[in-house]
Amino acid sequence: MDITVNKIKSLNGEIEIPADKSITHRAFMFSSLTKGKLKVSNFSKGADCMSTLKIIQQLGCKVEFINEKEVIIDATEALKEPAEALDCGNSGTTTRLMMGLLAGQRINSKMFGDQSLSKRPMKRVIAPLEQMGANFVHQDYKLPLEIKGTNLKAIDYNSPLASAQVKSCILLAGLNAEGETSFTEPYKSRNHTELMFEYMGADIKVEGTKVTIKKSQLKPVDITVCGDISSAAFFMVAALIVPNSDIIIRNVGINETRSGIIDVLKAMNGDIQLLNERVISNEKVADIRVRYSNLKATTIEGEIIPRLIDEIPIIAIAATQAEGTTIIKDAQDLRNKEADRITAVKTEVQKLGADIEETPDGFIIKGKTELTGDAEIECYHDHRIAMSLYVAGLICKKPIKINEFQWVDISFPEFLDLMSKLTIS
Ligand code: S3P
Repeated sequence: MDITVNKIKSLNGEIEIPADKSITHRAFMFSSLTKGKLKVSNFSKGADCMSTLKIIQQLGCKVEFINEKEVIIDATEALKEPAEALDCGNSGTTTRLMMGLLAGQRINSKMFGDQSLSKRPMKRVIAPLEQMGANFVHQDYKLPLEIKGTNLKAIDYNSPLASAQVKSCILLAGLNAEGETSFTEPYKSRNHTELMFEYMGADIKVEGTKVTIKKSQLKPVDITVCGDISSAAFFMVAALIVPNSDIIIRNVGINETRSGIIDVLKAMNGDIQLLNERVISNEKVADIRVRYSNLKATTIEGEIIPRLIDEIPIIAIAATQAEGTTIIKDAQDLRNKEADRITAVKTEVQKLGADIEETPDGFIIKGKTELTGDAEIECYHDHRIAMSLYVAGLICKKPIKINEFQWVDISFPEFLDLMSKLTIS
C-alpha cells in the first residue's frame, strides 16, 4: 500500500494509544509457562505479537478471544513439541525470547522468519545459551535454526550489550535452569521481563544492572497491558512540530527504562505534561499532553540510548525542527534492527531537504530546516521508518509518497485511524 502524506494545519484532540508490543509479547509467552489459565487484556494486535500468539498455540496453549480486547490463554496442557516449524515473521523479540524459553524444555523445535529477520544476528543469544548447555543447529548464527531442548545449567553472564531481548532470553532460560542465573548489562535496558516475572511470582532479584533469577514456576495471574510509549512517540513528535497542535495521548506506559523519549523531548524544550499517573499490572502509566513547541538541539548518548532505542528515527525527525546541532551517538545497534535504521533514516530524511549526516553510531542533524517534501520515500520493510517519515510528511511544503506503508501493521495497525482522528487539515 503506497500512501501520500500532505501538510496539515494542526493536531488536536485525544486518543488512547494501543497496547505495548514488548509487554504483549511477554504476557503471551509467560502465560505459556504457567501450567494454568489466565486473561490478557488490551493486547497489541500488531503482526509481531500475533506471531508470538500463534507460536504459543503451536506449543499447546488454548487461546480464546472473549472480545476485541480480552483473550484467555489456557496453558494447562502446554508445552508440547510443535508439529510444524515456528514462524517468527518479522519479530526479533519473538525469536530471541522464544529461544531462551524453548532451550530448556524437553522438546525440539524449528524456527524461521521473514527475509529481514533471517539477516539479523542471533549470536548474542546463542552464545550465552550455549554456555548454559543449550543445543542449537544453525548456520552462521542466523535463522532458520533448530532448538534441541535439554537441561540447562545456571550462568553468571556479563553481557557486552545493553539489550532487553538478550536479558529476557537468558532470564527465561534461567527460570528453568538448575541454580541461580544472573545477567549483568552495561546500561539498564527495558525491564518488562523483570517486572512481569515479579508480578507472576518468580524468584527474581534486581541490583542495579544485574538481575538474578532462580528456577521458579510462574503463576497464572491476569495481565492488563498498558499503551505503547514507542507508538505514542510518533504522536508526541507530530504535536511538537506541527504548529498550533495540542493533544492528549491516554494510557501510555511510562516505565523509566522506556521513557528516554520524554526526557529528551523535554530537554529539547518540548511542552510535555504527564497527567493521571497510575500503575497497571506492575507498570507505570500516564496520560500525556503535548503542545507545539519551539524545539532546540540536544546531544543523546550513553546510558539513555537503551531507554529510547526504538524512538531514535522519530527523534531524528524532531531534530530537523530543532534550532542548533543535534548529535546522536552510541546507537550502533540501530544498524541491526528491522532495517539498518541509521542509513535508512539518513537516506530518506535527506530526500525531504533536511541537513542530516550519518556517523558509524548515530547522526549529526542541523536545524531548523524547512522540509521541502516532493519526494518518494522507501520504508525498508521497517514499521518505525514508515511512521517516522509519515510524521515528517505532515510539515513538508509539498506532499510526499511513502511506498509499502502496510509495514506499520507490524506494531501499530491503528496508526492511520488515530492520526486522522487528530488531524485538522
Ligand atoms: C525489545 C528490545 C529492544 C527493542 C525491540 C523490543 C524487547 O531490542 O529494540 O523493539 O521487547 O525486549 P534490543 O534488546 O535488541 O535492544
